[in-house]
Parts: sequence; structure tokens; C-alpha cells
Amino acid sequence: MENFNPEIVANNLNTKIVGRNILYFPSVTSTNDIAKEKARLKAPEGTVIIAGEQTAGKGRLGRVWTSPKGTLAYSVVLYPSIKQLPFLIMIASVSVVRAIKSITGIASEIKWPNDVLINGKKVCGILIENSLRGNKVDYSVIGIGLNVSTNLKDNPELSNAANLVEESGHGVDSPSLICRLLTEIDNLYVGLSDGRAVFHEWRDNLVTLGRQVRAVSGDVVYEGIAESLGFDGSLFIRQKDGKLVQVTQGDVTLRG
Ligand code: BTN
Repeated sequence: MENFNPEIVANNLNTKIVGRNILYFPSVTSTNDIAKEKARLKAPEGTVIIAGEQTAGKGRLGRVWTSPKGTLAYSVVLYPSIKQLPFLIMIASVSVVRAIKSITGIASEIKWPNDVLINGKKVCGILIENSLRGNKVDYSVIGIGLNVSTNLKDNPELSNAANLVEESGHGVDSPSLICRLLTEIDNLYVGLSDGRAVFHEWRDNLVTLGRQVRAVSGDVVYEGIAESLGFDGSLFIRQKDGKLVQVTQGDVTLRG
């Protein structure tokens, strides 16, 4: 998100935790890497790193995340308890669904665990990185990459992706969008309680349940119907042989 003025966002934010400290970098390797560095130096909880562009954006499962200008790339530093940890992917994806709806009117969906789709095409990816010491969380970084006006045609890796401007048919005001995104993360994180409310909202926005899926988790591939969810965010798949398998992380392709 180029030519971004963090002061406009900071002045319009009314959050309790998220966005108390906003740092903007025109060009960085990865906002997650900067956020982790800040977290190690005990940056205030809710510190947000926003990039004009990332030169080495990181995706889930060790992949590269293409993040040219027009993509909103940001990371949030949090210090959750170990109990809150499983809900961060839900908070992150639900915050994006809520903000897209509020700013553009578009209803988006979540593909397990936390890709956000519009009309079946990925508009947003989320990478959460945690540092744990035994049973204690040192810090968590929620990294979000949202295609706003990203040039999809000139990036072959983005041929199946969506961006907000094309999907909505009009321009998107970046400061309003980022304010909404940060406000929604704040509302969900501050109001997390036992996690039930965000779990239900996440589940209700998932496109995955009831669908025929192919899940790749490490070296193992599971195929079947995505039947249900664990409260920890895991996915239960009913295989052809009738066996129910639990997938805690990985990638899911929707079939049919
Ligand atoms: C994925 O879908 O694989 C996750 C993509 C996450 C991309 C975001 S952009 C901001 C933050 N910084 C990174 O290097 N990655 C995340």
C-alpha cells in the first residue's frame, strides 16, 4: 500500500490495543519479520507494521507471498495467552471478512483455515507466527496480505486471485480500509473471552464444510468430505472408507 500516511489511520482509530503504535515502511522484506524483531524488543502489544511493498513476503507452509504495490501487507504484534492462541486464525480471517463487507459491501468467505475468498478466488492470505517458551507464548504475529488494487494480470502467480477494486468495481479508500481492519481485530481480540463467539462466526463464514476436499498436511494427503471442526480450529474429514481424520494444519483444495 504505497504513499500511506500512518497518522491518518492513527488519528481515526479508537481501539484499545491494536494500532496503538503504527509503523509504516515503504519497502521491507516481510512485515512479519519486522514485527517479530519488534516483539523480541518488547514492542507494545498491538504494534502494527504496514508495508508499501514487500520484497520477500512469506506465505504459509514456507511459500513465497507475492506482494507488489496495491497489496495491503501488515502485521500485528500480540502477546496472547496459550489458551487464546488457537483463536488467532479465526480472529484474523473474521476481521478481514467483516472489514471487506463494511468497506465494499462484498460478502467474502473463508477457506479453511484462513484464506479469504471472493467468488472462489483468493483475495487475502494470513500467516501467523508464534514464539513459544514451554507453555508460555513469547509473542504472536498476525500477518495479513490483502489484494486491494494489486495488478493480477502481470503476476502469473496471482492468476487465480481477486482484488477488492476489481471485485467491487470501484476504488477503495486505503486509510478507511486499514482503520476498519484494525478495529475489527481489536474488537475480536479484546472481546475474545472463551473464544466461542469468534469460533461460531469463523465456522459460519467457512466455505469448506460439507464440501469434497483434498487436504495436504505435511507428507500426508487426505481426501473426503469436510465434515466438522474442532474448537481448536482443526478440520475433520470423512474419508471414503468411512474413517474420520483430524487435520490440524495444512492446505485444503475444494473439489467439485
Ligand atoms: C498465505 O496465504 O500463504 C499467507 C500469506 C500471508 C502474507 C502476509 S503479507 C503480510 C505478512 N508478511 C509476510 O511476509 N507475510 C504476511
